[in-house]
Order: sequence, then structure tokens, then C-alpha cells
Amino acid sequence: MDQKQVYIETYGCQMNVADTEVVLSIMGSNSFGITDDASKADVIFINTCSVRDNAEARVFQRLATLKQYKKLNPGVVIGVLGCMAERLRTELIDKRNLVDVVVGPDEYRKLPELVDEAFAGHKGIAVKLSRVENYDDILPLRTDGIGAWISVMRGCDKFCTFCVVPFTRGRERSRSLGSVIGEVERLSAEGYKEITLLGQNVNSYHDGTNDFPDLMAAAAAVDRSIRVRFMTPHPQDVSDKLIGAIASTPNICASIHLPIQSGSNRVLKQMNRTYTIEQYLALVATIRAAIPGVALSTDIIAGFPGETDDDHRATIDTLMRVRYDGAFMFKYSPRENTKAWDMGDDVSEEVKVRRLTDIIEVQNTIATEINALLVGSTVEVLVEKVSAKSSDEWMGRTDNNKFVVFPKAGAAIGDMVNVKIHKANSATLMGTIV
Ligand code: SAH
Ligand code: SF4
Ligand code: F3S
Repeated sequence: MDQKQVYIETYGCQMNVADTEVVLSIMGSNSFGITDDASKADVIFINTCSVRDNAEARVFQRLATLKQYKKLNPGVVIGVLGCMAERLRTELIDKRNLVDVVVGPDEYRKLPELVDEAFAGHKGIAVKLSRVENYDDILPLRTDGIGAWISVMRGCDKFCTFCVVPFTRGRERSRSLGSVIGEVERLSAEGYKEITLLGQNVNSYHDGTNDFPDLMAAAAAVDRSIRVRFMTPHPQDVSDKLIGAIASTPNICASIHLPIQSGSNRVLKQMNRTYTIEQYLALVATIRAAIPGVALSTDIIAGFPGETDDDHRATIDTLMRVRYDGAFMFKYSPRENTKAWDMGDDVSEEVKVRRLTDIIEVQNTIATEINALLVGSTVEVLVEKVSAKSSDEWMGRTDNNKFVVFPKAGAAIGDMVNVKIHKANSATLMGTIV
């Protein structure tokens, strides 16, 4: 009997990337094969994101193009997984005669059964959120060989008023430290060079006995030649203990992504971010004093409901005060059922665009200035992959998460090399191996 082949495409955050590896593992151990060619697939999964409207729009566009595969092979099963599955549910099946299965983030164990039923002509949906599911016992199917994502907690209890994640991912729950460490040991034996501990709110990790700094310290102790990163912490839960663990552990990378969202206390309050600018800036000062050379990055939202020009100026002012190494910058996108949805989307598109452009300009100037200081210096880089721009060049990252591009010069993926920097822009350093 020939084996059914599964193809999967992943949208959204790293948590989705990690979930895709869980899904492939579940399908693989239920006698499905895996293909990276959609036209050869018997099952096509799209693992989706709902965080902003444009993320969903991209998936809808992609779904429209999937019709061709149904035409090619009417028996193909099309599944929508992830956050849009959780948010839109039966709508995804009802509104178009295309989708056969809809499965939310906590129900992936049901996929083989639902797919089998779909082969028999029955559409299926599973979107219950769980308080306990963390796929602790499932070994994700990884193919990278160098960098691994390890999902250590799921869900989010923070309920920032703009955010759909608590609704699509459900309540916070953590894996046991033992199971995470077992995974790190296996990755070390397989020759992995970098791990990133993942969670929507990763530093609220707690397995009943161990907190997040305990987990980080234990993960880093498994193999001192493995770099340890983490994503994404919430500023409220960045403890002195966590800062101490990063500062005192050489293989925990000196880079922290610390989403601020806005520089205005009034807006932060409306967002339910639970910190003030003063508290946030004090935290930044503590981090910088404890971890020399630490790189900080952030997320910013432009045009939250009620945001005034003064609020916007406060955000710009905060960017200039903190001087982040990098930032992800977004236009506010209203999400149904969130608290902010009820506040009305009252900042016009034009003003949102102008503010976002402002923010991007200021941030890019700062990042360019920070990176220019590295020209002439030599940095240690883990070689990760071929550069997107040239097949003669490698791309890698420094300990503090700077992207570096350089001619291959005999180095191989997975090597740690010293690169002398000749040029820099806001996002990338360019140099040669010394
Ligand atoms: N748990 C993480 C990631 C959340 S989603 C965190 O708290 O940082 C990643 C980023 O998307 C958020 O930090 C926020 O800046 C942005 N985001 C979330 N909802 C949004 C919305 N409705 N409109 C615009 N940006 C949004
Ligand atoms: Fe969303 Fe806030 Fe939770 Fe991050 S902390 S996932 S922004 S609700
Ligand atoms: Fe998107 Fe869901 Fe991640 S909404 S950002 S894929 S948790």
C-alpha cells in the first residue's frame, strides 16, 4: 500500500514553527510520509496566524491558490491548523468548499484520525483549547541540524487588550523541566549548536518546582558549546534572578527581546501591559548594568485606539532613550473579541502609516548607528546558512543576535568563526573570516 504524503506550510511566529515540527512528528508516527512538494501531497496543511489582519489575509490568498491542487487531485485533504483554525472554526469549512479539516493548536493529536475521516469524505473540526496539553512526550521532527526551537510553555494569561493570542492559544501551561532537558540532551548528541526556548510569555514558565531562570540554567548546563536563546519574555516577569542567570552563564546569549509596544503610560495602561515607562526604563538600566554588551530588541504598535500625537511622540522619545538594536514595528490591527476591539479603531489609516513610518525611520537610524560602531571589530559568528543574497556567502549570528554575512572561505555550517566587520547597515553586518 502506498504511503500518504503530508505537505505543510507555516505562517506566524516561532511557536507555529515549533508546532509544525510536532504535527509532522505526529503524522510521521501514524504512517504518513512527508513531502516538501505540494503537488505530490495527499494532505496539505496550512499552519496559520491571526495576530494581525494582514497575517490572515495572506493565508486566505494562499488558500485560494490551493484550489489548483484539489483540481489536480480531488482526493487531496486540505487542513487549516493553528491560530486561524482556533479563531474562525467552522467558518473556514462553511465559507469555502475547499477546507476539509480545521484543527486548533491544542488538538494536533487528533490529526491522523481526522485526516483519515476526511479521506472517507467526512469533514472534521477540533478546536478545543486545553489547560494541560503541552505535547511533552512528542519528539518534534526537526531537520535544521544546527538551530532548534524548543517550546517550553504554551498559551498566554496576560490579555494585552489588542492581542488575539490568549484566545487562540489558551491558558498558560509549562512542560516539566526534566522533559525539556531530555530534549536538549538529545539535541546535543545530534550536534545541534543553538537552542531557543520558546513561549508566548516564556519567562512566566513554571513547572510547579522550577521557574524560568532554573530552566535556562539547566538547559545551558547540558552542553556549554550550545548557545541558548529565549523568546519572548514579558517585561513584567523579567526578574533579577533571570538577569543574573543570563549574566553569569556564558552560553546564554546576551540578547533580550523586550516588547514595549508604546512609550506612553496612558496607552500602556489601555493596552493592559502592566508596566509603566519608568519601570520599563529602570529594567533596561538594570539589564544593561548586569549584562555588558547585551543587545535589546522590541516590538512597537503604532496607532492603538485613542493614541494621540503626544502619545506617539512619547514612543519616539522612548526609542531614542533606549536605543534598541532592533525592533519589529506594526500598525495596530483591530482583532475581534479583544478588549481593544470595543475601543474603536479611531486612528485613521493615514495617521497610522505616518506614525509607523516615523517610528521605522528613527529606529533604523539608531540601529545603523549602533551597528556602525562594530565596523573594524572582529565578532564571533555561528555559521547558520547560505546568505539569501549570494550563494558564495554564509549568514550567521553573533552571540547578541546580529546578522553577519561573509564569504564562505572554507567554513561550514555549524562552525564558529571570527569575522572582521567591514560594513554595516541597520539589519546586517558584512565582513570576512579572519
Ligand atoms: N507574546 C509575545 C508575542 C505576541 S505577538 C509578546 O508579548 O511579545 C508579537 C507582537 O505582535 C506583539 O508584541 C505586538 O507588538 C504585535 N501585535 C499583537 N497584536 C497586535 C495587533 N492587534 N495589532 C498590531 N500588532 C499586534
Ligand atoms: Fe499577546 Fe500580550 Fe500575551 Fe504577548 S503577552 S501574547 S502581546 S496577550
Ligand atoms: Fe500568530 Fe498565533 Fe503566533 S496568532 S503570532 S501564530 S501564537
